[in-house]
Amino acid sequence: MNALTDLEARIQRLPRVSLAHLPTPLERLKRFSESLGGPQVWIKRDDCTGLAMGGNKTRHNEFLMADAVEEGADLVVWGAGVQSNNCRQTAAACARLGIDCHLLLSRGEHVAEIQGNLLLDHILGASYEIVDEPIGPQLDERITSTAAFFREQGRNVYSWDRKTVKAKAAISYSQCLIETTRQLQSEEIEPAALYICSGGSTGAGLALARKTLRLPYPVHNILPIHWPWDEKQDLSQIANESAKLLDLPVSVSPEEISIDGSYVGEGYGIPTPECMEAVQLLARTEGILLDPSYTGKAMAGLIDHVRAGRYSASQHLVFVHTGGTPALFANRDALVTMLSQRERPT
Ligand SMILES: Cc1ncc(COP(=O)(O)O)c(C=O)c1O
Repeated sequence: MNALTDLEARIQRLPRVSLAHLPTPLERLKRFSESLGGPQVWIKRDDCTGLAMGGNKTRHNEFLMADAVEEGADLVVWGAGVQSNNCRQTAAACARLGIDCHLLLSRGEHVAEIQGNLLLDHILGASYEIVDEPIGPQLDERITSTAAFFREQGRNVYSWDRKTVKAKAAISYSQCLIETTRQLQSEEIEPAALYICSGGSTGAGLALARKTLRLPYPVHNILPIHWPWDEKQDLSQIANESAKLLDLPVSVSPEEISIDGSYVGEGYGIPTPECMEAVQLLARTEGILLDPSYTGKAMAGLIDHVRAGRYSASQHLVFVHTGGTPALFANRDALVTMLSQRERPT
């Protein structure tokens, strides 16, 4: 058995519910690459995981919701930002599985307008509270106390808990890298690098698979947020906890993780001009939509690295699109201001 089939067999032993359309396509961005003057950029379409407009959390939830089902949960308590893609995809997973969903949504920089992901939370039937605690340890505490409240009311609650859900969610991105590796092999391509927007489970799962499969190219995690902790340390810890769950004798050190926080801009969820340029360029060369909080910023990082001359025109790059497009609608004003108008054809 080679490393790839061994890793896949270990992952397949874990409880899992089927939620995502897999494998997601790997597509060549011909016109986008030409507009940058090379290298050849490929896109892994995890925005097409399918459930309620897709994204990376639908992969995560295949493993997390399996636990909720196994524990006989009748209520899932989850939380993140008011325009959270995570919460929207979790609300959708709960709807699919017939489990109630209650969300704690941090107000943050966004007004709590019923638009974008919040509108979808409504449609999907999740109940929610808009709260003042910022994303991170304070919101985590609020989720824990809300889950405890519902338990006292007699509900069987499965709740977001950073310590337990992160490693399990990460495993779904080890699976994603297996999938991508097979697709690259059939295209006979060895990329020079892979880019993704992550500061958590998604990047940790990729790091674990990269090490296990001994892939020679770096995985660049472009941060959407600056966490109040050391992100390299955190991702390596998550990856190593995932390795334990898989009984895998592999360890990932912080030095083996590439993190780039230069594209966050003013803050989490606030679009930058470079992000908007990336959204516009991919839309107008390929008809593919990025989002203003995550994938637009990650693509701005890739574009910046290309323009800095890091890659030759004959090399290949992979960009993993992690979804998030519903947030475009919640950022209408910023988008209208920042996007250049298309001129009338002559
Ligand atoms: C669209 C999108 N991309 C990337 C991420 C980052 O995922 P992770 O927290 O696993 O790093 C998120 C997280 O919510 C997201 O919504």
